[in-house]
Amino acid sequence: MTSSTIELKQNFSTKLINGLLNIKPLAEFAKAQARKMIIKRAHLIGVNWEDNVQNLQNHSWQEEINAIENPNLQYPPYYLTSFHAYEKGNMSWDAAWELESAAYSVHSTIYSKTPQPDGDRNLRKSYHEFLQTQISTNPENILDIGCGVGLSTFALQEAYPHSHISGLDLSPYFLAVAKYQAQQKGKTINWIHDAGENNNLPLESFDLISNFLIFHELPQSAAENIISHSNKLLKKGGFFAIMDMNPQSEIYQKMPRYVLTLLKSTEPYLDQYFSLDMASVFTKYGFSTPKIVPISCRHRAIIAQKIN
Ligand SMILES: C[S@@+](CC[C@H](N)C(=O)[O-])C[C@H]1O[C@@H](n2cnc3c(N)ncnc32)[C@H](O)[C@@H]1O
Repeated sequence: MTSSTIELKQNFSTKLINGLLNIKPLAEFAKAQARKMIIKRAHLIGVNWEDNVQNLQNHSWQEEINAIENPNLQYPPYYLTSFHAYEKGNMSWDAAWELESAAYSVHSTIYSKTPQPDGDRNLRKSYHEFLQTQISTNPENILDIGCGVGLSTFALQEAYPHSHISGLDLSPYFLAVAKYQAQQKGKTINWIHDAGENNNLPLESFDLISNFLIFHELPQSAAENIISHSNKLLKKGGFFAIMDMNPQSEIYQKMPRYVLTLLKSTEPYLDQYFSLDMASVFTKYGFSTPKIVPISCRHRAIIAQKIN
């Protein structure tokens, strides 16, 4: 088959999938199937999805919400859309109660074809080992942007037990769960309900700003704004790091376009993330040329230092 025939076939499949996804019942069916698969995989690795959700559902959340919610926050419009097959995206209790189990399930096949329970832990471990090779002194003050229910924040605290750690997110539901989980684990973390690109955190106050699996959820303008705003929040010489999907990995390079289209139906800004030239954005906003390193078969870590 010639390359132009393959191209034509791929365009046809992509258009077909796009057309099918525009038919709401079919899109709902595709999302329900994907969800079933994630829950089935969770069971295979010993995660009791239903019990985990039920336990969180039974808790009364008013106290956490009252403590966390920032009443003056203006949500950026790109955020208030459907993500990961949740109609209300990250702005829902369902998404908050399921996030931890979903992360374990989705990451269970990173290091082997048969689902493994420690895929998520190993992914976070690889990222921290990479950070530790790049940052020679212990960062005193760390910010975790897009902290979700705290998985990345707790992992940072484990890697840097003597640092002061803040977790920032736009979802009050995720932060409420994060706060509750921190209390259960006896951890002290400063939770902030705000936007990564627009907040009143003190300037030049952080030694490390970490972004674990948030960038693929951002349109390019928001990604640029987070990088430029973070430059102002970092002390001179401080580090900005990202762990996220690796568009250059063989898995995504070889992925048929129609599968990427299916992925896009639950990740609305994926194509913008895949086409963003990170190195030029970093240098444009006062960072050194970033180091970009694959850290799993489908993820990369990126790190740069504030130079001005
Ligand atoms: C896939 S989750 C990752 C959560 C967490 N870092 C982890 O490792 O499990 C992405 C998170 O980024 C948050 N997020 C997206 N855009 C954001 C923004 N502009 N500012 C702050 N948080 C944002 C979402 O609410 C969500 O919690």
